[in-house]
Amino acid sequence: MKFWKQAILASAALLVAVGSAGAQDVKIGFVVKQPEEPWFQDEWKFAQEAAKEKGFTLVEIGAEDGEKVQAAIDNLGAQGAQGFIICTPDVKLGPGIVAKATANDLKLMTVDDRLVDSAGAPIEDVPHMGISATKIGETVGQAIVDEIKARGWDMAEVGAIKVSYDQLPTAVDRVTGATSVLEQNGFPAANIYNAPQAKTDTEAALNAATTVINAHPEIEHWVAVGLNDEAVLGAVRATESVGIPAANVIGVGIGGAESAINEFKKPSVTGFYGTVIISPKRHGYETALNMYEWIANGKEPEKLILTSGQLATRGDYEAVRKDLGIQ
Ligand code: GLA
Repeated sequence: MKFWKQAILASAALLVAVGSAGAQDVKIGFVVKQPEEPWFQDEWKFAQEAAKEKGFTLVEIGAEDGEKVQAAIDNLGAQGAQGFIICTPDVKLGPGIVAKATANDLKLMTVDDRLVDSAGAPIEDVPHMGISATKIGETVGQAIVDEIKARGWDMAEVGAIKVSYDQLPTAVDRVTGATSVLEQNGFPAANIYNAPQAKTDTEAALNAATTVINAHPEIEHWVAVGLNDEAVLGAVRATESVGIPAANVIGVGIGGAESAINEFKKPSVTGFYGTVIISPKRHGYETALNMYEWIANGKEPEKLILTSGQLATRGDYEAVRKDLGIQ
């Protein structure tokens, strides 16, 4: 009798041990498309907080193109990782990423940019955390409308630089959200100039915006929208390079990471009026934690989580950041 009791207890203990695959054995990859961008560095930072808290290993990988993504996934597989979170350099890589993850027996979640299938539709099976792109874009548009009014500009004579990156659905939703609010408030659609950027960094945005500004020397007052802070900063830098004063420019970005904050810290005001701060903490910490729970405890993450944003300007960004827990 005693023997059986002990045997049962021993196997129960073994089951518990197997069921909760010791945290120290869990390895999770966090792959991002643009490792030098402050937003992604913040995501990594917060993901590492989750790793520290739960005791798993988080492997940070930058993958700027499709080839690097493939190599990153194989590498994670070879290292014995059990899953990864990715912000892909190109959402059309979707089916390939899913296939590679499956081949390497890795659980897959996406962050920021949602994978699409060959028809361009979102791959809904892969758990995703993104921002509420249209709503946040609308917040950008409203902030610009309010500031145009505050500065007493004649809406009919203002030009809008729309820094666009149409191969990325969240980028389309963000800028469309912004321009739709402009138009609803009487901003002439004909004064919204498209500035397609070749890449999603400041330099590419600066180049795109410069073309627009040079084509319209008659415009004195400019506003600028784009997918993120880098896009809007590029447009603001373009206005500066042709000598348009900061008082004549209203740029509102999306992100709120270091690039935007540095702008607010400059001794004199620039044309970068505000940013809608989004949460790298949720995108980094929460995705990593959710992946960990999936691997260690079999708890499947929600298929779609969309996070919100909050407008911040030079005057109140510190308070907004504190409010969002990203100090
Ligand atoms: C995209 C952008 C990033 C950032 C994230 C937020 O990936 O390229 O700059 O805005 O979305 O989800």
